[in-house]
Amino acid sequence: MFLRNVWYVAAQAHELTQDKMLARKLLGEDLVLYRDASGAPVAFPDRCVHRLAPLSAGRLEGDRLRCMYHGLLFEPSGRCVDVPGQERIGPNLKLKPFPVVERHRLAWIWMGDPALADPALIPDAHWLEDPAWRALPGYVHYERANYVTIMDNLLDFSHLGYVHENTLGGGRVSAEVIPKLELFDWGLRVSRFYSAVPLPAYLKNLAKFEGPIDRWQIYEWRLAGNLLTMDFGSAPAGKGALEGNRPPDALVFQTVQALTPETEGSTHYFWHVANGFNLDDASITAELHRQTDIAFAEDKFIIQAQQAVIDAHPDEKMVGIAADAALNQGRAILKRMLSAEAGAAA
Ligand code: FES
Ligand SMILES: [Fe+2]
Repeated sequence: MFLRNVWYVAAQAHELTQDKMLARKLLGEDLVLYRDASGAPVAFPDRCVHRLAPLSAGRLEGDRLRCMYHGLLFEPSGRCVDVPGQERIGPNLKLKPFPVVERHRLAWIWMGDPALADPALIPDAHWLEDPAWRALPGYVHYERANYVTIMDNLLDFSHLGYVHENTLGGGRVSAEVIPKLELFDWGLRVSRFYSAVPLPAYLKNLAKFEGPIDRWQIYEWRLAGNLLTMDFGSAPAGKGALEGNRPPDALVFQTVQALTPETEGSTHYFWHVANGFNLDDASITAELHRQTDIAFAEDKFIIQAQQAVIDAHPDEKMVGIAADAALNQGRAILKRMLSAEAGAAA
């Protein structure tokens, strides 16, 4: 079950070009995406209105898309402008483009009722374009995990010391920190503060200080579009970083991560982790990206293994612990939003 009347990340800016179509499945639907002559993203269902051949097997002619079965040619608006062997082109020979808007280096798509697609509802991800931050795009394809199983993981950082023992880490203290939860109609905010803890392994190449450190993770989870945005970082302990007085040598980061269901059982995970220090040193951003990529592969391993067991035991009850508080709230808000959408559609 997916929310439909929300904006989802369909692609990262660098994936969309004017000379090549991107074929991608989102919310169970096959799509083709590319850029029109002005550079704006275009998204169509990956099927020709004529005999349903996949458009992704077609070709771009300028910013028009030709189906390479019987040669129909479509404009970015979806209008058909050429039917070989036929003069008159009826109004039914039209592709229905999905609303898609590029903002903050992300292409956002609306796959619900197009009349409700208001670009003002696109969530804020301005850090990705802000000159005060540097980030590289990252992507994980979960071939075998439902998006809610991944959401559970992102709402519960008690796993950091175990799944990421040798990377993001932090040890047992990651599970001992009691997060502060704030609930909103759009989702939740989770704030985690670690006082005087060891420097996690992945920061060893980035920090000019050693432990003990103060560490913070303050993140928001929006159910619409499954978007995580987080302010996080580390500073030498005892300098007031946890009270908001971040010293000049603090390592400050901002991340934007989005889960877009591919199918019920597979998920696209688009991520950026930005550094807000040493902006002139591209190697910092590259190293951060490399380390995060390793850590996210650790998540993928345990989550896909967990999903396989869940699927094999669909009736087995899970037994809760204190660390589940945020994910339980996240699931409850999602449930409310799904029934509200189903109610509105009925
Ligand atoms: S199926 Fe596309 S032109 Fe016939
Ligand atoms: Fe993780």
